Amino acid sequence: MGEKFRLDRFLGECGQGTRSEIKGYIKKGRVTVNGVVAKDNGMKVDTDTDIVCFNGEEIVYEKFRYFMLNKPQGVVSATRDGISKTVLELLSGEITEGLFPVGRLDKDTEGFLLITNDGQLGHELLSPKKHVGKKYLATVDAPLTEEEMRTFAEGVDIGDEKKTMPAEIRTVLEDWDDTVYEVILREGRYHQVKRMFEAFGSTVTYLKRVSMGDVELDPELQPGE
Ligand code: URA
Repeated sequence: MGEKFRLDRFLGECGQGTRSEIKGYIKKGRVTVNGVVAKDNGMKVDTDTDIVCFNGEEIVYEKFRYFMLNKPQGVVSATRDGISKTVLELLSGEITEGLFPVGRLDKDTEGFLLITNDGQLGHELLSPKKHVGKKYLATVDAPLTEEEMRTFAEGVDIGDEKKTMPAEIRTVLEDWDDTVYEVILREGRYHQVKRMFEAFGSTVTYLKRVSMGDVELDPELQPGE
């Protein structure tokens, strides 16, 4: 037995449009349920047994939804926030119920944020036991020495109970004003990248996450898309 939804919600969950767009499609007779043109937006459909077609094409319900967001600065990685705009508010037109961001990026951090309703995947991506790498580009105001880079990679005391887990660091760019490092972490503590550099007296001035596991941020995605 599948899940039961109103027809308009079913089409929304399947990413076929906003609520008002879908209402228009149904009104125009572009949606059929089991071969019969649907008239009622609120009719109940069963995701397992009913066959819903839009413009003659079958729409198959997927229980889990995955969005890759290029998080812009100034937006918080939460589902709700009384003050600031949240990452879920950037998914305009989508049904966001049940969706959550996988891990938090700071308000001023940009880049790859996965938004999903797949709790199991979310847990596995974040669990330090699973060792999933999160890759960041960090611009800092003062470069680390080679020795500091080695310590950074081995594990840093950032004031927590335990040192940080082994990480990877390599220099991407170095000029007179700032240095850009690529950093791969396999855990996600609060402000971790910033605190790791801070441990060497270096301040992160810009931070962007560029991948999680082997999924890279789509370079076509502009901040906010
Ligand atoms: N580390 C940080 O310091 N900030 C982030 O947003 C992510 C990792």
